[in-house]
Amino acid sequence: MNILTYTSNEELSAYAADFILDLVRAKPDAVLGLATGETPIGVYEQLVDRHRKSQVSFRQVKVFNLDEYAGLSPGHEQSYQTYMRKHLFSGIDLPSEHAYIPCGIADDLSAAARDYDRLLEEAGPLDLQLLGIGHNGHIGFNEPGEELYAETHVVKLTDETRAANSRYFELLEEVPEYAVTMGLGPIMRARQVLLIVRGENKAAVLKKALYGPVTTQCPASLLQLHPRLTVLLDEGAAKEL
Ligand code: GLP
Repeated sequence: MNILTYTSNEELSAYAADFILDLVRAKPDAVLGLATGETPIGVYEQLVDRHRKSQVSFRQVKVFNLDEYAGLSPGHEQSYQTYMRKHLFSGIDLPSEHAYIPCGIADDLSAAARDYDRLLEEAGPLDLQLLGIGHNGHIGFNEPGEELYAETHVVKLTDETRAANSRYFELLEEVPEYAVTMGLGPIMRARQVLLIVRGENKAAVLKKALYGPVTTQCPASLLQLHPRLTVLLDEGAAKEL
């Protein structure tokens, strides 16, 4: 694994944006796995900026997002559809039919999850999976527990995750109890994984993820088994390494 530490979010995000742009330059029809949360916002900002200034086009790129809240319509302010439109899709020339996000409002969420896996399968292995990490070690919405799943699935969010994400909602009760998340399969099969972690409050979980036992109790620890993992950190997150 390759670990790089940066003094500012600007530098870290610039590195990640260049990483993605270089990949698209080399492979114009790249398949990208993308993440949400606070951490990648700077990366998307810089990607939009660099896209405008460069000749690099996303017209042939396909993107697959990790997850979506169950019960939030694509137009809901806190849906990950809205997040991606706001932070990335509206600023690049990615065709809307190339942007895949798990469906959180289907009558049969499990059937929709299987459809998502089929689309992922058809697109081939992800060329790059961008990841953040939850305070409890989750990746996507793969929460700690007795078992992890390879396929896209419906997950009950832990109290910890709902509390962490409640900052985006007016009330804790408004945070959905369930989500749909890509499983560990496509993440571990991705040709490269770029994990971004910021802030001292993630230092302990990051240490567990990178150097603790590989366990379903810390889903990010499985990344230790990935052959091409790059970890981008700020100084806060790197504190306990
Ligand atoms: C969210 C997302 C994850 C994200 C994580 C950390 O709930 N489902 O994909 O990596 O939690 O988010 P943040 O960057 O806001 O700390």
